[in-house]
Amino acid sequence: MGNIIIAGNWKMYKTQAESLVFLKSFLPLVSDTPSDRQIVLCAPFTALAVLSQGLHGSRVAVGAQNIHWELEGAYTGEISAEMLRELGVRYVIVGHSERRQYFGDTDETVNQRLKRAQQSGLTPILCVGETKQQRDAGDTERVISTQIDQGLMGVNQDNLVIAYEPIWAIGTGDTCEAKEANRVIGGIRKRLDNAAVPIQYGGSVKPSNVDELMAQPEIDGALVGGASLEADTFARIVNFQ
Ligand code: 13P
Repeated sequence: MGNIIIAGNWKMYKTQAESLVFLKSFLPLVSDTPSDRQIVLCAPFTALAVLSQGLHGSRVAVGAQNIHWELEGAYTGEISAEMLRELGVRYVIVGHSERRQYFGDTDETVNQRLKRAQQSGLTPILCVGETKQQRDAGDTERVISTQIDQGLMGVNQDNLVIAYEPIWAIGTGDTCEAKEANRVIGGIRKRLDNAAVPIQYGGSVKPSNVDELMAQPEIDGALVGGASLEADTFARIVNFQ
């Protein structure tokens, strides 16, 4: 296991005021977290500025949940890399399954977003994962290989994080068994040019299963949805045994 990175994905939760309340309880709880663990909070665009200010000088980095591939232009409702950089954002989630499912992200647009993020000095977190139907049909490896191969075309693997998030485990409380997550992540690693890319597991990570997940040799971190919304719960995850 190389660089450990534990990221919270707040999705469409938390106003600025709620974000500040979170920080006040969260920061003291991670003051003794081992220094080799990178902690990231991926917040809604509207909370990024106050989070950056509140986290200035701390060891917690700020991440966004999406980025547009053009530098600027007539793209109503989109946010550019420069806008994120100005706010002190360092990471950005790309190709989350909710964006693929509800907002039309494809492997091609995911690829464009990844490249833009890197060209602008941000570290993208590429999400991949199969549906329940695809898993039951024995298609898991094929689906993920396509997402990896097409998503990473021309992408620099030295500035990249990958998150394996089986869609059936997201927000369901139904975690992928640790050994199975480890197996799939090992398969993803074999497809990469750079075996040192940190690969996270995501999908119902919680205090009760994080220790077992993080004990797996291929799993370098976690991407945490629901359980990242409460400061004490997320701190317990960050401080896994
Ligand atoms: P949950 O942890 O709520 O299952 O969400 C996982 C996720 O989608 C993180 O990006």
